This record gives sequence, structure tokens and C-alpha cells, in this order.
Amino acid sequence: MEKAQPHPLRRATTRATVVRALGATILFSLAAISSLGITTQRTAAHTAVPINAAQIVQQCQALNVLPSPPKDFHLRSESDRYVPGTPPALIRNATIWTGSASGHDVVVGDILLDKGVIREVGWIGESVLKLYDNVTVLDAGGAWVTPGIVDLHSHIGVGSAPSLRGSSDTNSRKGLVLPWLRSLDGLNTHDDAYRLVISGGVTTANVLPGSADAIGGQAFTIKLRPTAERSSSAMVIEPPHTLNGTHVDPALPPRWRQMKHACGENPSRVYSGTRMDTIWAFREGYETARKIKHEQDTYCAKALRGEWTGLGDFPENLQWEALVDVLRGRVKVHNHCYEAVDLDGIVRLTNEFKFSIAAFHHAHETYLVPDLLKKAYGTTPAIAMFATNARYKREAYRGSEFAARILADNDLRVVMKSDHSVLNSRYLLYEAQQAHYYGLASNLALASVTTTPATVLGYDHRIGFIKPGHDADIVVWDSHPLALGATPTQVFIDGIAQLKDPHVSKKPSGHQRIPKTPDFTKEAEKTLEYEGLPPLETTEATSDIVIFTNVSSVYLRQGGRIREAYSASEMRTAGLVVVEKGSIQCMGALSDCPLTGYGMDIQRINLEGGSISPSLISYGSQLALNHINGEASTNDGAVGDPLLGKPPSVLGEGPVIRAVDGLQFVTRDALLAYRAGVTVGITAPTSYGFLAGLSVAFSTGSPHKLAAGAVLQDVTALHVATDSWTLSVSTQIAVLRNLLQGGAEGELKSVFASVVKGSLPLVVQVQSADIMATLIELKKEIEGERGTSIKLTFSGANEAHILAKEIGEAGVGVILNPSRPFPGTWKSRRILPGPPLSEQNAVAALVANNVTVGIGIEEQWSARSTRFDIAWAALEANGALSTADAIALASVNLETLLGVKKPVTDLVAVRHGSFLDFEGKVVAVLSAHRGVVDLVG
Ligand SMILES: *[C@@H]1O[C@H](CO)[C@@H](O)[C@H](O)[C@H]1NC(C)=O
Ligand SMILES: *[C@@H]1O[C@H](CO)[C@@H](O)[C@H](O)[C@H]1NC(C)=O
Ligand SMILES: *[C@@H]1O[C@H](CO)[C@@H](O)[C@H](O)[C@H]1NC(C)=O
Ligand SMILES: *[C@@H]1O[C@H](CO)[C@@H](O)[C@H](O)[C@H]1NC(C)=O
Ligand SMILES: *[C@@H]1O[C@H](CO)[C@@H](O)[C@H](O)[C@H]1NC(C)=O
Repeated sequence: MEKAQPHPLRRATTRATVVRALGATILFSLAAISSLGITTQRTAAHTAVPINAAQIVQQCQALNVLPSPPKDFHLRSESDRYVPGTPPALIRNATIWTGSASGHDVVVGDILLDKGVIREVGWIGESVLKLYDNVTVLDAGGAWVTPGIVDLHSHIGVGSAPSLRGSSDTNSRKGLVLPWLRSLDGLNTHDDAYRLVISGGVTTANVLPGSADAIGGQAFTIKLRPTAERSSSAMVIEPPHTLNGTHVDPALPPRWRQMKHACGENPSRVYSGTRMDTIWAFREGYETARKIKHEQDTYCAKALRGEWTGLGDFPENLQWEALVDVLRGRVKVHNHCYEAVDLDGIVRLTNEFKFSIAAFHHAHETYLVPDLLKKAYGTTPAIAMFATNARYKREAYRGSEFAARILADNDLRVVMKSDHSVLNSRYLLYEAQQAHYYGLASNLALASVTTTPATVLGYDHRIGFIKPGHDADIVVWDSHPLALGATPTQVFIDGIAQLKDPHVSKKPSGHQRIPKTPDFTKEAEKTLEYEGLPPLETTEATSDIVIFTNVSSVYLRQGGRIREAYSASEMRTAGLVVVEKGSIQCMGALSDCPLTGYGMDIQRINLEGGSISPSLISYGSQLALNHINGEASTNDGAVGDPLLGKPPSVLGEGPVIRAVDGLQFVTRDALLAYRAGVTVGITAPTSYGFLAGLSVAFSTGSPHKLAAGAVLQDVTALHVATDSWTLSVSTQIAVLRNLLQGGAEGELKSVFASVVKGSLPLVVQVQSADIMATLIELKKEIEGERGTSIKLTFSGANEAHILAKEIGEAGVGVILNPSRPFPGTWKSRRILPGPPLSEQNAVAALVANNVTVGIGIEEQWSARSTRFDIAWAALEANGALSTADAIALASVNLETLLGVKKPVTDLVAVRHGSFLDFEGKVVAVLSAHRGVVDLVG
């Protein structure tokens, strides 16, 4: 990461400078002063009245005016962001979630947009329409419509995609307290993410500086659409009046400003200090601001009393004016803060200096301390969080999927945010969907990405709601926005349609309503009882015989495929599945499976119309190599890069590292995955270089390595990366060629001999289509020389769709990781984005070319969500992938691609709903190889 050079400070934009500059041109008169309500003394002081007294008085009177929109704002018929030439648009026949009535208001009707604002909502007749020319009509056909999504926490534009030198403008390393910095100064107008993120329905993002500093600087809220001016400034919504030095009528109320704060580990780590140092840095900064504010207040008290003698200039300081504005209640403070200890420090700080926090962000422990949060000065902070991204460092270890509902139960406002590109904000709505799945009420879940963040920002007078007079930021969805995979069919920003010829994937009819999510009340209570760390182990069924009743479908493995083995709707009867020691003995109607002969010792589980399916496999992260990724002491660590002369020579010639030797059991991510039906993990050694080593297949639910069935296969595949940073790509290819041709010693030689023979798959981490093409040629070259067939798998493979035909012909397999692509680097930037931007997604494009496709995850916390990832891939594929095909993506296909010899036979029982939706809840794992049924819950 490079440090940005500071710009020379220029004193051009402060309020007082503006006032002084104008002072010279405005005629001063006593009459003007008395009209401002000042009594002037007819004595010596009379002559001391400065020439710009009127301006000073105006400035002083405005000093404590709080931000608000102009009084008549909602009467506007044209937006300040209106682009002349934009035709009026009529969205006909929509189901409109307006955001009003705490998110309970739904209107069926039309929406009329004109000049960048919403003009009418409801059934709109001809008499109204004839007042408008050239109206563009979009027939929504009853589809769900919401306000544009608002991301309260994004680094879009300041941490751009693809990542290039100088594209990380989020953090300054020039001090701990830097309230004078502005994210706008780093806002790249060419971030590839803008278009993608709009395609997910996000219309507004609050672009925050990073968290390396206690006070990282000022944030700016932008609309994501391209502007005619093509400038950073043109993207900003309601810029503070003084931002560009233009004089604005001082009678106008000020506009909200935004600022980033961070406490806890990040600033402490960056400045090798401690939490004590960080809080002191805050106090020192706030004390500086407090003194300036006091001087200003004293000055203004005198000026307003007409005591001009010796008053001098208005006290101000360009570096501190923004922090002074925080103390004046004119800045929304966004505070990155996780743990109770840090929240406590900030709550004290707010009371010491009397300012309020708009929102605590990340805030993984806030649900444990609701009463503390309510002690913060002023308005109780909102909580801006991830749904399930947690446990990546100590501060996040107690993060809970139930936090959103617990906070809401305590009357705290919940916002779901992306921290883009930590999460790709294209899928910010998915955060709200997951929060809903785990128990946040549907009205609050939708509000958490629309009305609530708009209100927290102070922009609810114009965004976050569908109301006449609000900005024309509207999303038309292909399904209910809380249904898995909901995708925009059109997005309006400032009344301008953003999607040209959008592609639509037809969704199942059940996706048009709010999903009926499971009841997690007991789990949420346990989470509080155990301070965020509830036990996650499952319990074994008490009987050898378990009978699942009211089963609507059963999917099973058959050879290398998945097939539906039982369907209640075809059989016209709710099914019964009899399981003995983890194996299915019988399925069908009661008459098909007589229960005689099993004795009395039978455990019954009613699946309430749910299903039984093959369990899933997680691949791609460091699952089971650490408990807390960011904590070295909990971590197996990274393999040394042999291209840099590592690992150490004491290991002898050509050692190959095995992940099995570093496995750790009962990590929370593994147990959560098990409880979500991901019963097997395949993990390679962690590597940032060329050669990672040999992966292992293990059970995510096992108590330790020596338990029966804990390790399924100690060596599954060999893992290398050809786009590591250590040496040139061409050098890495040369090394790989040499190794495939037998040019190594010891274990490395024999491992590569197995690869060449085709008995050990070679998994190459690669994103670029150019490197994949080279690898396909290398495979042919070696196979030609040796007359063998190499099992080659590309992992990562963002650009694989470009070579779909060639990859299929070469018999190469692909693991897409992440399963929904993001153009994070130059080598991965040519993605196939899927609907609405392209007809196919990458999975469908590869499958159409007979490529065996699996999906992976990048970070272990997301292993538990694999069922949603595969479902989503199928939902995007417009019928090209069946439910069975979707399950195969994270089961049998991964077995093939990663060299699992003995098929995984675990099954998962899901109550109410299916494995692939937001309605089902995993209640049991059926393990034939361990001879048990494990109960979840
Ligand atoms: C309506 O559209 C036509 C054709 O695009 C254009 O010539 C005309 O100026 C438009 N009228 C208005 C009022 O915008
Ligand atoms: C609105 O759309 C629904 C669903 O397509 C349709 O049944 C209904 O007739 C439409 N109503 C109007 C007024 O067009
Ligand atoms: C400066 O800001 C004002 C008020 O927002 C705006 O009207 C004006 O166009 C801006 N000027 C420039 C040069 O961006
Ligand atoms: C099966 O489950 C469905 C869905 O919950 C329910 O409507 C139905 O009444 C149940 N049938 C039986 C026989 O329990
Ligand atoms: C895929 O495989 C099927 C069956 O082997 C074959 O009919 C089809 O032509 C193949 N498609 C492509 C694009 O290679």
C-alpha cells in the first residue's frame, strides 16, 4: 500500500474566509445592524464597529443552527440532481414497499417520476399523465418495488476495483486524529464496481475513510450513477455548502456532514499503540476542538451584544473546523467499534465532550450491551452491521447472526452495511435477507438497507422512501426483496433508468412473497446466555431408528450425480423416511414403510413438509486451519514459498506440506457449517506463494482428529497458484512445467508423478483467462509427452467463462470462487456478472460447455451459507440448473474436482421448506459412515 502525498493546505473554503471576502463589497450601515437586532452603543465603541459586522453577526447567529433541508424542500418539483433531457417515467402496476409506517406500508399502484423526483404514488390516471410529455412507461406487472438501497458504510471509489497502485485511498498514515481529511479527495470515478453495485439495486453509498486512524476523516455520500460532468464532486449528494467555495445564502440551514471514527484494534495496531493511546488521541483531539468552539462562542456572545472593541477576527482553524462542527451537532459520526470495552470508551467520550454518534459500525458486541449504548450522549446510535461475517479477529469472535434481531428487540435501530469491498455491495440486500432469515422482522430488514440508513445519514427528506418529493431512486425487483437471489429488473437513480436491456431470470412463484423463516428464538436466547459463544456441538439421536415424517422430497447421490429419489407431490402423500444407524432403510407412504419390527425405541422427527438432501462440502477457505483467522496464535499459519527458498532445508529435498497435519477441530466456523448441512470441508494448506501442498477432506462436526470419521481422506489433491506475486507468471509456469516433467527430488517428485499419471488432481489457483489458456496448453504438452491424462482443476476462475468451450474440450474442471464474481484485480476483472447485466452467469456458461463446475468460498465464516450460494447460482440460471444440479455444485462435483475417492454419504434433514431457500432449517445430519443421526438444535 502506498502512502498518499498530502495536498498543500489551502485556506479557501472556510465560512469566515467567505464572509470576509464579501465584507468588502457589502455596504455597511448602522441601519443594517439594527435591523439585525443589535443595539449599538453611541459611545467610543461606535467607531470600533468593524466594516464586516453584519456578516459576523450573521455568522454568529448561524453558529448553532442545526442541519435541515429548506422548509419547502418537499414541495420541489425538480431535483438539484435532475439531468435535463431525462424523460418522465411511469412505473405501472407495482407492489410498492414505500418505507413509510415503519416499513409496514405497501401500496399497489403506479409511480410517476419527473425531473429527478417522485411526483405521484398510487393509481395515476390519464388526467395527470397528460400534463407530462414523452412519458416512458415500464409495466411492472405487479412486481415488488422498493426505494433505492442505501449503503451506510462503503469504500467504493476510494478502494477501487480492479485494485491498482494508488487505488487504495482509504487510509492516511499521517496521524491518529485527522478530521480534516475528506474521502472525496480520493474518490475514483472509474471504479468498475459502480455499475455492478447499481445492478444490485444500490443507488446511494456513504463513502467512508478507512479505520486505520481514530479519526480517519470526513465521509461523503454519493449517488452511484455516472454523471454528465464525470467528476467526483458531481456524485456527491447534498455537499456541505462550503465544499467548493461557492457562496450560498447564509440564511439557508447547513447540510449534514459525515465523519469516520474508529476505535479498538485497527488504530491501535496501525500506530503500535494500545486502546489507551487511541482513546487519549480522541480526547486530545476533542479537547482542541472544544477550546476552539469555546473561543468562538465567547467571541459571538460579545459580537451579538455589540461589544466590538478589540474583538478581532472570528477564531477558527481549518484543520479543526470539522471536529468543532461535530461538537455543534452538525456532523453524523460513523464509528467503527466492535467490543464492549471500546463501546464503553466511546460512550464515555460522548458524554465528556457532549456529541452524539450516528452509528456504531461492525459493532459485533453491541447486542450484548444495549443498555450501555443507550447511555451515549444525545440520540442513541444506530448499529450498522454484517449479517454473518464474523469471527475473523478477536473483536468479531462473538459476532452473532442473531445480533440484528436482539438489537431490534431492544429498540435499537439496525442497519445492514457492506464495508465494500469487504463484502461486494452489489449484494447488500442479501445481508438484510440473512438478518431476516435469522429473525429480524421483515419491515425492519427492508428498512435496514433503505429508510434506516437514509435517516441515520440525515438524508431521509430525499432518499430511502417512495414518497412524492423524494429523489426518484427506485428499484423494480424480480421477486420479493427478502427472497433469496432477488435481483433488480430496473434501477432508477435521479429518475434515470440505469439498466440497458436488463436480463431477467424467471423466479419460482413462491419467491413473490416474504419467506416464512424458521424460529430461532431458542438459539438467540442461548447466544445471550453464553455471552455470544453458545455451544455448537450437536447431539446424537437417542435411538438407532429415526423416522422422519411429513417429508416432501428426498434427493440422493447416484454415482457422480444427484437425483430426486422421492417427491411427495408426485406421490400425492406426505412421505415417511425410516433411518437406521444413519442410513435410509425405506421411504414412501406409511403403507410402503411398515414400522413393525423396529420395536418401541423409535425417535420421530416431523419435517413439516421439509426435505432430505445430500450434505454439502466447503472448499476454498482456511476452514479448520484456525479458530480466528486474524489471530496467529489460533492459526496453522502459511506455507513458505519454495520459490523463495522456503520451507527450511531441514525438511530435506522436496517436502510437500499436508493440510491434514495442521487440522484443528471444533472451530466455530466448522461447527456452524456442520449445523447448516456442510458436513465436509476440503482445505489446502494456506499459501501466498506458488506451492501450497496437499489438501485434506475432514468432517466439520468431529470433536478431534482421532474420532471415528474425522478425517475422510488425508490427501485429496495438490494445490498450486500460478499468479502469486513472488515471481513472474511465466517463471511460475516454467517451474510447473519442470515439476510435471519430473524435475524435482524427493516427495515433490513423487507427488508430481501422481499428478502426471492422473491419480492426484492438480488444483491451480488462477483467475486470468490468459493464464488458464497457457495451463491448458501445458496440460496438452505434458499429456502428449507422457501419454497420460492429467486431472486439472482451475480454482478462482473469474475469467473462465471466456474460455468455457476450450476448458470443456480440454476436460478441465472449474471451481468458481467466489461463486458470485467481483473484479477485484486486473487478472480477475473480466467477469460474467449474471442477471441483470448478462443473460448467463458463469456457472451456467460453463455447464453449457460440459465443464464440471463446483463453487468455493473465500472466507471460512461463509461456509455455513453454502446452501444459499448454490441456490443462488441456480436461481440466476433461468432454468438451466435444476435443484439437483445446484446441490451437485457443492457436493459430487467438488468430490470429482478435488479428488475425493470415497463419496461422502451424509444426508441433511431440513424442516419446513427446503435446503435451498430461506424457509428451511437444518434439524439433523444423517451419517451412514459414522452410523448415527446428529440432531441440530
Ligand atoms: C419528446 O421526444 C421527442 C422525440 O425524442 C423530442 O423530439 C421532443 O423534444 C420531446 N419532447 C419533450 C417535451 O421533451
Ligand atoms: C397488475 O399485475 C398483475 C400481475 O401481473 C395482474 O394480475 C393485474 O391484472 C395487473 N393490474 C393492472 C391494473 O394492470
Ligand atoms: C459548488 O456547489 C454549489 C452548491 O452545491 C453548486 O451549485 C455549484 O455548481 C458548485 N460548483 C462547482 C464548481 O462544482
Ligand atoms: C405437513 O407439513 C405441512 C407444512 O408445514 C403442513 O401444512 C401439513 O399439515 C403437514 N401434514 C401433516 C400430516 O403433518
Ligand atoms: C456436452 O455433452 C453432451 C453429451 O455428451 C453432448 O451432446 C454435447 O454436444 C456437449 N456440448 C458441448 C458444448 O460440448
